Amino acid sequence: MQQSPFKTIEWKDEKIVILDQRKLPTRMNYVTCKDPECVISAIKTMVIRGAPAIGVAAAMGLALGAKLSRTSTRDEFLHEFEALCDRFAASRPTAVNLFWAIDRMKSLARSIPFPSVKATLREEALKILDEDIQTNRAMGSFGKELIPEKASILTHCNAGALATGGFGTALGVIYAAAEEGKSIQVYADETRPVLQGARLTTWELHQYKIPVTLITDNMAGMLMKDGKIQLVIVGADRIAANGDTANKIGTYSVAVLAHHHGIPFYVAAPLSTFDPSLATGDAIPIEYRDKKEVFYCGKRRIAPRGIQAFNPAFDVTPAELITAIITEKGIVTSPNVPSIAKLL
Ligand code: MRU
Repeated sequence: MQQSPFKTIEWKDEKIVILDQRKLPTRMNYVTCKDPECVISAIKTMVIRGAPAIGVAAAMGLALGAKLSRTSTRDEFLHEFEALCDRFAASRPTAVNLFWAIDRMKSLARSIPFPSVKATLREEALKILDEDIQTNRAMGSFGKELIPEKASILTHCNAGALATGGFGTALGVIYAAAEEGKSIQVYADETRPVLQGARLTTWELHQYKIPVTLITDNMAGMLMKDGKIQLVIVGADRIAANGDTANKIGTYSVAVLAHHHGIPFYVAAPLSTFDPSLATGDAIPIEYRDKKEVFYCGKRRIAPRGIQAFNPAFDVTPAELITAIITEKGIVTSPNVPSIAKLL
């Protein structure tokens, strides 16, 4: 696979440059963050989104905060830095990669003397970005073996280069299979209400020259019944100790459909997406977003005023509906407590 035709996030001239995913696919605008508050806002407003990508953004935002800190003692620095960690932790609740990256930066900050800690935190953030891309490549190498020649693959939301430091998790597996010369095609669920599938996944796959067909979220059942889907592959925001997996709202419905039609349902996720502290998916915190996302399609209101809307951003797919989880350390088939404990 050639180099990615775009960069999701970059540390450039001591600023953080983020591709504005709200504007895709019509415009390729960048938000340049000169301070950590700008990065927090970018995560909250989904300028940048996707579990691994928001982890990378938080790490970079914390490094930038450390660099700009005017504190003069180690204690003052740590006090300020940990308060900043808390503000990043409050930006989005579901994807555990965010908390994983914050914890990693926090432990490092506590272990390095002041003021050299500032440079070390910057190096660590860049390392997190680099590792994420390597991790996705490794997942691709394992996962591509699960993709048959001429497969027609369904994906939900966007788990590609845009959702990560680069290359992607679920889409990374697809890219790795394509790199190997497999002729594959993808069906992308539009993924209402934020339309990550319609706006981002189709755009990304098209950039990588992989044939992609956009469908609305209610079409998957018919395609499966007609034998047009050989496998489903999605990303994840948080995986509990028993394999229950939170991912974009609608993933659970796709998993139920795949199960009914006997179609393999794969999750591709790095180890940083596992949360062994939660016994099952019931404990995963689900983000509820502004109802406006449901009332409107783009700028146009599509529902009458005076009614209610429900807008959970994620749902949980029970482990028994997951054929296998693809990670950078290998593939766990029929995930359960012992197999996940062994992996971690
Ligand atoms: O609300 P989003 O767009 O951040 O949700 C993203 C997803 O649900 C992705 O599928 C998940 O983060 C995996 S990304 C590799």
